[in-house]
Amino acid sequence: MATSSAHMESEFHNPNLEVLFSAEEIQARIKAMGAEITRDYAGLNPLLVGVLKGACFFLSDLMRSIDIKLSVEFMAISSYGSSTRTSGEVRILKDLDVPIEGRHIIVVEDIVDTGLTLSYLLANLKSRGAASVKLVALLDKHERRERPVEIDYLGFQIPDHFVVGYGLDFAERYRNLPFIAVLKNPEA
Ligand code: IMP
Repeated sequence: MATSSAHMESEFHNPNLEVLFSAEEIQARIKAMGAEITRDYAGLNPLLVGVLKGACFFLSDLMRSIDIKLSVEFMAISSYGSSTRTSGEVRILKDLDVPIEGRHIIVVEDIVDTGLTLSYLLANLKSRGAASVKLVALLDKHERRERPVEIDYLGFQIPDHFVVGYGLDFAERYRNLPFIAVLKNPEA
């Protein structure tokens, strides 16, 4: 195996990152959110819908803090920075594998930014005859909102900075950070 210094550089201690929420802070907040959802959805057998890829990490921890019968599905929608973005057009790249008529849906998202993705997705799921559709988001960048989106369960409110880690990426990098950090210089 090569032993060049490039292989030794720690991604977790990258000086281009400024920690916003530690792994411990994230886990504590998720436990509280899970307890709230456990109380609210007792007996309702909700279907958690994770939005790929970013929300997987959050979803995986959150669902283990929800102590009731539930199931989980995934959707993929056109990603941040796509050319259709400014038009507000959103594309479903991977749809649900099950019908949701009469089900209680909890959409799990990593971050709500402009709200374009979520306002489309929530309306789309409601139109399929779900009994209820609610949203849980780990982060809310409220200042950037262009479309109103109601967040039923929120982890943290954050200022208008580009953040990475705990599933959030910049050009597919940094998803593996156990904490959430501000990316100081995206060009670096
Ligand atoms: P929205 O449609 O503008 O609300 O964007 C939601 C999506 O944009 C999220 O699911 C993320 O994939 C991405 N996104 C928005 N802000 C950030 C950020 O600060 N870091 C990483 N991804 C982000």
